[in-house]
Amino acid sequence: YLFPNCFKYLILGGGVAAGYAAREFSKRGVKPGELGIISEESVAPYERPALSKGYLFPRNPSRLPQFHVCVGSGGERLGLNWYEEKGIELILNTKIVKTDLKSKTLTSEDGSVFKFGTLIIATGSGVVKLSDFGVKGDQAKNVLYLRDVKDADKVVEAMKAKKNGKAVVVGGGYIGLEVGAVLRQNNLNVTMVYPGHWCMSRLFTKEIAEFYERYYTSKGIKLVKETSVIELEADPNGEVKKVKLKNGRELEADVVVVGVGARPATGLFQGQLEMNKGGIKTDGLFKTSVNDVYAIGDVAWFPMKIYNERRRVEHVDHARKSAMKAVEAIMEQEKVVEVYDYLPYFYSRVFDLSWQFYGDNVGERTVMFGNRNLVVKKPKFGCYWIKDGKIMGAFLEGGDSEENKAMQNLAWNQPKVDDLRELEDKGLSFAFNY
Ligand code: FDA
Ligand code: NAD
Repeated sequence: YLFPNCFKYLILGGGVAAGYAAREFSKRGVKPGELGIISEESVAPYERPALSKGYLFPRNPSRLPQFHVCVGSGGERLGLNWYEEKGIELILNTKIVKTDLKSKTLTSEDGSVFKFGTLIIATGSGVVKLSDFGVKGDQAKNVLYLRDVKDADKVVEAMKAKKNGKAVVVGGGYIGLEVGAVLRQNNLNVTMVYPGHWCMSRLFTKEIAEFYERYYTSKGIKLVKETSVIELEADPNGEVKKVKLKNGRELEADVVVVGVGARPATGLFQGQLEMNKGGIKTDGLFKTSVNDVYAIGDVAWFPMKIYNERRRVEHVDHARKSAMKAVEAIMEQEKVVEVYDYLPYFYSRVFDLSWQFYGDNVGERTVMFGNRNLVVKKPKFGCYWIKDGKIMGAFLEGGDSEENKAMQNLAWNQPKVDDLRELEDKGLSFAFNY
């Protein structure tokens, strides 16, 4: 590998999974010059979750280099100098526009060609746009999406420029709830719009959502549910001032932040790799259908051993762990490597609240426990999902690390529940038996 742009191992993408993969390669003795990372972004891999939280705080906001990987999981912070020291080539500001897995080459926007021995695809997700649903006007300069640092800088600028102004947040999922909260903390007048009967409907039950909706309302955030945006009307300066809804309402806006979902960034590999619903099919070691090509993080459609079915996961914990597993498989070719055995873990933090969820939110019924009253200083409550009499999912708001660990164990062990009344009565303490 003496030629320029030619790597024994090449990672496409410079996000969370790429950063954790680089650390694992280094731990496992990759030699200087063997590993390259190509990223469209202009900075070294960082912990993306910061962008919708600490990055937008009104006081002492996080800024790079503070949240480069691997600080999000309590590890060492890998700045540019770390890559240099290890002889890992970080090729930034470089967008790959063409790939050819047969000739093992990637071509960038400016025509540079990169050759690999083994490729790891870690391209993550792109935002779903309102224009994808046929909504007009999302090109306006005050309509913002959030995926990378550049996007987050635009939100910061908008919060400064529109001080005390009106923000419309479109979407009631992760981005909507996190950005809606932090915009309010920045003193904007926030209205959230989403089509569901309640927020975060892909995870929350009606009862869980009801708590967060009451909390948001108590903070002065207006919620407009069960409708969606049909048009963003711009003024002659190209700024959206009016958000038109399907139900006939019109909302005034100084800034619009949109979080209506993400889509795996796999377009470069269409027709070259086996895929499903946009995800790249892998085995339990993240090998794709083509030799020497691996896929990790958001893009991987992998066998989730615990539930005996394939899934894609768009969360940071999986990005980290899938990266480490794939690198282990690549570097330990001669040894037997245990397949990935993953328990889904999602979390969020907004205002003074913080929840964690482990497992699968499926089953015939749910059992709520704890105190969801807003008047208590620190609400602590949770929910168990029960399928075929077994606990499959466990959610906890306001838990400490031991309590969250107990939730994790419960979801992992899936105990059978004979008496639902007893489960309800015991609530959180039930989890400490496992
Ligand atoms: P990731 O998106 O991190 O990285 C992909 C990289 O590939 C990017 O650097 C991109 O520029 C690059 N790339 C893509 N195509 C390219 C091309 N053609 N050429 C060159 N480079 C290319 N999860 C969670 O569990 N808890 C949380 O709190 C949050 N919070 C959160 C906030 C925000 C604002 C976002 C957007 C996402 C989250 N997430 C999250 C989700 C989590 O961040 C996400 O699942 C991981 O970042 C996925 O890691 P990947 O490395 O797969 O993609
Ligand atoms: P999401 O899938 O969580 O939420 C999308 C929301 O948009 C849903 O409420 C949905 O009902 C709504 N929606 C769909 N179509 C709509 C429309 N036409 N008009 C209005 N609302 C519409 O996606 P997201 O919140 O955009 O997050 C993007 C990505 O970032 C995801 O991969 C997510 O996992 C990740 N993320 C995760 C976290 C976390 O884990 N804490 C935080 C931020 C982002």
